Amino acid sequence: MPMQATAAELPYTPEIAAATAPLFDRVKDVVSQLEWPGYAPIIHEINRLKKEKNAVILAHNYQSAQIFHTVADVVGDSLALARDAAKTDADIIVMCGVHFMAETAKLLNPHKKVLIPDVKAGCSLAESITAADVRLLRERYPGVPVVTYVNTSAAVKAETDICCTSGNAVKVVESLGVPEVLFLPDEYLANYVATQTKVKIIAWHGHCEVHERFTAKDIRFFKKNNPGAVVLAHPECPPSVLAEADYVGSTAKMQDYVETNKPPRVILITECAMSDNLRAANPGTQFTQPCNLCPHMQRITLPKILAALQTEQPEVTIDPAVAERARASVERMLAVK
Ligand code: 13P
Ligand code: SF4
Repeated sequence: MPMQATAAELPYTPEIAAATAPLFDRVKDVVSQLEWPGYAPIIHEINRLKKEKNAVILAHNYQSAQIFHTVADVVGDSLALARDAAKTDADIIVMCGVHFMAETAKLLNPHKKVLIPDVKAGCSLAESITAADVRLLRERYPGVPVVTYVNTSAAVKAETDICCTSGNAVKVVESLGVPEVLFLPDEYLANYVATQTKVKIIAWHGHCEVHERFTAKDIRFFKKNNPGAVVLAHPECPPSVLAEADYVGSTAKMQDYVETNKPPRVILITECAMSDNLRAANPGTQFTQPCNLCPHMQRITLPKILAALQTEQPEVTIDPAVAERARASVERMLAVK
């Protein structure tokens, strides 16, 4: 086998079939036997290269099951990925997620090589606001602290007082001990936080292109067709959708809900790949998964992860003029207990 075989050149041999059998076992409920020979040699080579290069793969909960359950070393929501990125002693971090997540990992590991298998893996929330917008908001609301969702560029993080994720937004807002905050850029997450705190929330108008597509009518339809199912929803959904949910939380909190309560049926109102990941690990729960995929998350594929490890590209870099201030806003978030 050539040293730098491309994904398409890697053969599916009996040795690889045997070596990857335990990994197939993890995904057999969501990846078919027909697909596996296409994935297995790439997975095997990625896992070999990770050891050779002392690399770690961080994967967000929205990554496809054949990535999430077979090559990832750390999986989780944006908060867990940021926390784990801060702790790793690997030389190379491969972020299987979107660009802002890779930037956060780089901010916390300025001297490490951080790779993202596809630099075009963006986010509609990160696109919805610029650093200049934040500066204008500060002029308009002098003295009001700026809390920024991590789904933003490093340049925006550099203009903010503290970051948050959907998992810790309420805690972060309340940690400031002020009567009002600017909460940027997700309008729906801001609305949700406002329902959970007495702090006045001033919102921006960014939306997640995946979660904004859900409607209350859809949810009522799913509920009617799945009597007794529990509805779990991500706080990036519109308020009318959250009003139909039994539980609202970050991707990690929804996962915890399933693992702790073991409900027989769940309607999962978030990015669709997450249902596959939960289904693979929780065979006792049936999932109804309205299939809204995040086009950015799904840009990350096994062949691109392999190429990133082989070439150590594309590497994430951050303008030093913004990195220090952006890092401070992420570190302030991580310090909130
Ligand atoms: P979580 O922090 O809940 O994982 O959400 C990240 C995200 O991009 C949701 O769309
Ligand atoms: Fe951004 Fe929405 Fe995709 Fe999450 S699901 S990365 S918020 S576009």
